[in-house]
Amino acid sequence: MTPLAESVLAGLLQAGGEYRSAAELLPLEGRAQVWNAVQELRAAGCHIEGRTRRGYRLTDTSALVHPSTVEPFLTTRRVGRFFETLAQTDSTNREIKARADSLPDGAVIWADRQTAGRGRQGRSWNSDAGSALQFSVLWKPLHMSASTGALVTQVAGAALARALDFCPLLGIKWPNDLMAGGKKLCGILAEMMTDGEEVAWICIGVGLNVNQLVFPADLPHAGSLALATGRSWARGPLLARLLNNLERELEVFEARGPKAALDLCREKSTLLGHQITCEGGGGLAVGLDDAGRLLVRDCEGNIRALLSGEAHLGSDRGA
Ligand code: BTN
Repeated sequence: MTPLAESVLAGLLQAGGEYRSAAELLPLEGRAQVWNAVQELRAAGCHIEGRTRRGYRLTDTSALVHPSTVEPFLTTRRVGRFFETLAQTDSTNREIKARADSLPDGAVIWADRQTAGRGRQGRSWNSDAGSALQFSVLWKPLHMSASTGALVTQVAGAALARALDFCPLLGIKWPNDLMAGGKKLCGILAEMMTDGEEVAWICIGVGLNVNQLVFPADLPHAGSLALATGRSWARGPLLARLLNNLERELEVFEARGPKAALDLCREKSTLLGHQITCEGGGGLAVGLDDAGRLLVRDCEGNIRALLSGEAHLGSDRGA
């Protein structure tokens, strides 16, 4: 956000819903600069009313993701204490990874729009501006082996499931998609950098569909929190809730290992106990082992442990 838009937002927030004139908002600038700043804030999700001779007033910030709508709800020590918002970038994962050496542990970069958002298995991740949460968290655990670090993908899935515990029918589809009623609400892409045998850092990228009500026809299995809960959600406080839960789950993982997260993944699994299809054939999903592998029993009784990849319910490729 430009410094002028930041100043106008600060003035409007301080006014608590009352009107402020252009001269009160930016005493050293002209009306055109105030107008431009207001337009920028509207594009960022602020609802601002303008009236001749009265000025501007803020009527709704529920779509705005900004330190002023996130930080008051953060209870973390690390995650989100460095917080950057971008109107647009190619990919927040790419942003974090490019700056991983200089950014602090727990840094979060959020973007309203990604032009080249990336998903698991080389797929892309697309979302309209104004209605989703797309962000990446940089996590720098101390002395964690790379093999343990690989479990972060399920730890993050468990953390976000806890954060969204108010959503009916919420489930975790192995390894870490969050689903509600067969529709995918949230995807996670974790990317790790190692230093010898240890984790140097992990970038945890999260895409959560929040307030979308319609999806393109080629995404029949996409859903949103709004569709699953029947109401829209303020993005700033919701993001803080996700970050609070991520930090809690990551700290438990660092201190005590992945057991708590894997237990939740088992409890919330959409696949366990069902026939699934996966690479190399299908079978009955019979368990999730302590290394986060999905155990699949084929029709001859052989058990295979899937370390990564895709698995789907029955013969349905999406659910
Ligand atoms: C998946 O389900 O395939 C994972 C999707 C992960 C998307 C998020 S959006 C924020 C972050 N930046 C990216 O480029 N990807 C992740």
